[in-house]
Amino acid sequence: MTRTWTPESWKAQEARHLPSYPDAAALAKVTDTLTSFPPLVFAGEARALKADLADVAAGKGFLLQGGDCAESFAEFHPNNIRDTFRVLLQMAVVLTFASKQPVVKVGRMAGQFAKPRSSAVEVQGGVELPSYLGDNINGIEFTPEARIPDPQRLLQGYSQSAATLNLLRAFANGGYANLRQVHQWTLDFMGRSPWADRFAQTADRIGEALDFMEACGIDPQTVPQLKGTSFFTSHEALHLPYEQAMTRQDSLTGEWYDTSAHMLWIGDRTRFEGSAHVEYLRGVGNPLGFKCGPSLSPDELLRQLDLLNPGREAGRITLISRFGDDKVEAGLAPLVRAVKREGHPVVWSCDPMHGNVIKAESGYKTRPFDRILREVRGFFAVHRAEGTHAGGIHIEMTGQDVTECVGGAVAISDAALADRYHTHCDPRLNAAQSIELAFLLADMLNAEAVDRAQRAA
Ligand code: PEP
Ligand code: CO
Repeated sequence: MTRTWTPESWKAQEARHLPSYPDAAALAKVTDTLTSFPPLVFAGEARALKADLADVAAGKGFLLQGGDCAESFAEFHPNNIRDTFRVLLQMAVVLTFASKQPVVKVGRMAGQFAKPRSSAVEVQGGVELPSYLGDNINGIEFTPEARIPDPQRLLQGYSQSAATLNLLRAFANGGYANLRQVHQWTLDFMGRSPWADRFAQTADRIGEALDFMEACGIDPQTVPQLKGTSFFTSHEALHLPYEQAMTRQDSLTGEWYDTSAHMLWIGDRTRFEGSAHVEYLRGVGNPLGFKCGPSLSPDELLRQLDLLNPGREAGRITLISRFGDDKVEAGLAPLVRAVKREGHPVVWSCDPMHGNVIKAESGYKTRPFDRILREVRGFFAVHRAEGTHAGGIHIEMTGQDVTECVGGAVAISDAALADRYHTHCDPRLNAAQSIELAFLLADMLNAEAVDRAQRAA
């Protein structure tokens, strides 16, 4: 029999990767304050995303989820939000135009602050301090003071999330995302990439298609989808006291929702059986992501799916595989087979980032672009072999011209990593690498469609 769920029933389960605050009363004061604050999203929006994801689960559409590994207070700037949003729009345009499938856009934005870390401590020059856990918990500066978890940071995280979400909503619906602007989205530093020309050609063809449709009476005035776009937010629901404080009962349905974002995911390190994170998320109505790494067995995955989605609602669960380029084919296939056999209606998405981190000779943590691509190719190959839909991509990226992942068409070398290595946590794809990935993904989606048509014939 399933236990009764409440917004705090997670407290009876094992919670890993939560900070321990020196002053519990100060944390309680902050979470009380957050409980009284307005929700950041409305339950109806989370349901709309779930409906879009249900289409993807049925093979009609593709999920594009991306953003920073960790958002930071220091990099909070409208230009950064705009540039990441713009690259996601460009990627979506490339994918939609080439594959003729709707693309569901979800930012790893407006709340992606708390991080699980592989080590609880960091050592620099013989000095050991608690690890940095994300800007809503402690500071990245390597000093004892900065590394003490401070609950006041949660209020700053809430406020940054609210302002980010506000700007994203404005961009999505206020004219910036109008398809007529597609040429204006090109970033200056895309100029050096061979993919910039391909993007300009795509933009030209979209312009021609819009001209044709306008002549037929279909224009942004009559069809609002041309004028704006849907854009959703997501983050890892790691900081359970924060997520609990943001939990609200929907006035329309009586259901509970985590109103800190439209979609929340459970990380590979907190998805174990008996986990407090699984317990918390099973009770909220949002669409959920579930990271699947090499240590997850098919039987365990099925048990977790039964717990998180007993009603087998399509769009509720997105399984985000993150194996590493050399493990994906052998590791993913048994999971896909089990989920298909049991008839769970999931979206399969590929995170080609978290299994492909290496330490470069320069000492920087990096991800080679060719390994990222190999994992994506392996992911598509498994779905092709199993007759399932390769439904999405989950990437760490930014609209900035950073040098964090080596490789790509404008090749970033190990020696160049030092130039603009700005991430607060894991290395991200830069704008040019993200758009290059979108074109390569579009080819893979097309090959999947051809394959499907041949099988159907
Ligand atoms: C992440 O998405 O930032 C992350 C930590 O991923 P994973 O849980 O898959 O390691
Ligand atoms: Co990461």
